[in-house]
Amino acid sequence: MIKPALASYASPPLSIPRHIAIIMDGNGRWAQKRGLDRFKGHYQGAEALKRTIQGCQDLGIEYLTVYAFSTENWKRSKEEIGILMSLLRRHLRSDLAEINQNNIRVRFIGHYHHLDTDLVALIDHAIKLTQNNTGLHLTIAFNYGGRAEIIRAAQKLAHKVREGKLAPDEITEQTFSQELFTHDLPDPDLFIRTSNESRISNYLLWQLAYTELVIVETYWPDFTKDDLVNAIVQYQSRERRFGGYATAQSR
Ligand code: FPP
Repeated sequence: MIKPALASYASPPLSIPRHIAIIMDGNGRWAQKRGLDRFKGHYQGAEALKRTIQGCQDLGIEYLTVYAFSTENWKRSKEEIGILMSLLRRHLRSDLAEINQNNIRVRFIGHYHHLDTDLVALIDHAIKLTQNNTGLHLTIAFNYGGRAEIIRAAQKLAHKVREGKLAPDEITEQTFSQELFTHDLPDPDLFIRTSNESRISNYLLWQLAYTELVIVETYWPDFTKDDLVNAIVQYQSRERRFGGYATAQSR
């Protein structure tokens, strides 16, 4: 395979994306293709996530946000849901010290407070332990749904208006985004979805408004640093206009 050349930080506009958001898709198909139980795909998916975290650190990515459990994933079998919960539990126990040593700051977005109390305690501990770390910002979307997030923000703003703390005209893109789970994160520059699926699937609906989308054929458990670099190279070939003009046409 020909390794793509990565533009250096110092040469904008072909810069390294600041924030990458990923839908880690294809765990089940990866396992089925090998005649394995689909849960094995999730186990290997967790390993791919560790590789990707390392890759992002190596490449100087500031923010990585991954979709680990959606509000729609409750439709899966009780057994599979249990496996995904245990996987998170297990990795929070076994990997948190290393994550902290690597100066990674962990955040969770989504309605994670509704999970089992021991898991909520582990999550809260991870957030608290790493809150002052200054390296990669790793955000795990867990029991997350974009529509639910937007409704929650609308309700919060409605309460503020009712309490007289905010005028209706003060509801702007800025005040709205302040009520989202991601209020302290920049919008993603690059979105990657694996397993060749071209959907956003209720992920970061507000935040992806101007994000560059890259769809990768690889199933998530096989995702490597080369795939990450390839996606970044694709991103670097795009011209981000944010609704304005292309550079060549700009006046
Ligand atoms: C989508 O693949 C993947 C998920 C629903 C779970 C993602 C979770 C991981 C990668 C593990 C992360 C681990 C931790 C500890 C956060 P799919 O099952 O929908 O695959 P399919 O479309 O091929 O069935």
